Amino acid sequence: MWKLPVFAIMLASQVNCWSKEQLKVTKVIMSASGDLDERFFEQLMGDKSYLNVWNSETTRLVVTSDNPMDTLIIMEAPRLNELVLYPNVHLKHLLLRYCPLDGLVKSLRNLRALRVLKLELCQIGGTFNLAELLALQNLTTFSVESNRISEILLQPDDAIEEMDPASTLKILDLSSNVIEHFNLNVLRAFPMLNELVLARNRLVTVAGSIFLQTLEVLNVKRNLLTELDLSGCNCSSLRYVYASENKLNTFPLFGDSITDLQVLDLNYNLLAVLNVSELKKQQHLSTLMLADNVLKSFNVDDGNETMVELASLELLELSNNQIESLDLRGWQLPALQVLRAMNKPLVTIPDDLLERYPKLIRLACFCPNVDCEWIQRNVEHIRNHKYEMNVAQQGSSQLGKGYRCVTVPYVGCVLCPFRRKDSELTESVR
Ligand SMILES: *[C@@H]1O[C@H](CO)[C@@H](O)[C@H](O)[C@H]1NC(C)=O
Ligand SMILES: *[C@@H]1O[C@H](CO)[C@@H](O)[C@H](O)[C@H]1NC(C)=O
Ligand SMILES: *[C@@H]1O[C@H](CO)[C@@H](O)[C@H](O)[C@H]1NC(C)=O
Ligand SMILES: *[C@@H]1O[C@H](CO)[C@@H](O)[C@H](O)[C@H]1NC(C)=O
Repeated sequence: MWKLPVFAIMLASQVNCWSKEQLKVTKVIMSASGDLDERFFEQLMGDKSYLNVWNSETTRLVVTSDNPMDTLIIMEAPRLNELVLYPNVHLKHLLLRYCPLDGLVKSLRNLRALRVLKLELCQIGGTFNLAELLALQNLTTFSVESNRISEILLQPDDAIEEMDPASTLKILDLSSNVIEHFNLNVLRAFPMLNELVLARNRLVTVAGSIFLQTLEVLNVKRNLLTELDLSGCNCSSLRYVYASENKLNTFPLFGDSITDLQVLDLNYNLLAVLNVSELKKQQHLSTLMLADNVLKSFNVDDGNETMVELASLELLELSNNQIESLDLRGWQLPALQVLRAMNKPLVTIPDDLLERYPKLIRLACFCPNVDCEWIQRNVEHIRNHKYEMNVAQQGSSQLGKGYRCVTVPYVGCVLCPFRRKDSELTESVR
């Protein structure tokens, strides 16, 4: 027998602001043993629209046609290996986690109202054919996060491709699998795709060409990419590209249609140079993240190009590179508000930073080697917290014997006597 609800939570949420207020009732069951079948669902008291089971030892889930449930979430279903799904037009959200399922069962297509389907932390492995989603005509979100998928294909069976209207899928989450190669062309059956998540795979290539008019978010964080060439992506709505924690050693290429980026996250890569002609196409770019790369400068050094404007850039993240001089030569950044530039080797910062970037409200630079005189000249901005330059952590350049300059927040640069460590002493003696 099942353990019956340990407790139930009433979760009131306003579903629609204009129509009369509707209440959504959530029932939470901590643990349910036995089958999740007709009898189980009948036993649930009250409103059955939203059921969240934390843990179930069930081996079987049965959804009949008259089951009125809207949402079913099973957070842990370690023994669930049989889904019995009858034609049903009520169930819209189905989330199964920690389950032994190794693929989509055919009968899923009986859940014709399904909008959100997530099979996460299950055992889906090998090749996954996206055409399996085409039968779910109302599906907008599909996630197979944290499975073992190594390849994504699109091999429609002809019947489906001819008969069905286009897929309504908006979010495709394939993160935390073991995919190495992704061809954008597999997305051709999903013209309404808005967000593609490929984070935490083993991607070494993203290739192919595709026309995706509504794609706004591309997330390829934490993969093994050495380059990211999106010139085959005719994706004029692309706004957010997250490609941090890869091995990019060349700047991404965005082709001719991607000209509306707002956020470009390239933190934790191996970039040594920028591509000015790529960057200057992005006149709506507001956030550029380049921390933890190997840049030696952030200047416009591109043949004939001497001045380039990024009209919308508000946040520029350059921390943890190898920049010695932060002169930003050639960049017109009229909207720049925050410049983060913690760089150990950084020595010089221009004095006219605020004149060149009048909207700047924060320069964050915990840089141990910045010239003490620069700090003193700009002490006013350190005191008013516009320039954040904290006490040098590892000690800064030594000024004469036994003194060094450290920057104290709100105060400025001060000369501090310091005693050398014995090890340093022996080294300098040698
Ligand atoms: C699918 O979505 C459409 C549009 O929202 C809706 O009219 C239709 O009833 C849905 N189909 C099912 C089976 O729920
Ligand atoms: C993108 O695709 C559209 C529709 O096929 C086409 O009209 C347009 O020229 C393409 N743009 C680029 C840059 O290829
Ligand atoms: C920079 O981008 C342009 C296209 O905008 C490309 O032709 C060129 O090869 C890129 N340069 C480098 C060094 O990647
Ligand atoms: C650079 O300038 C020279 C001389 O003005 C010109 O011949 C050349 O085409 C320019 N190169 C580029 C990439 O614009």
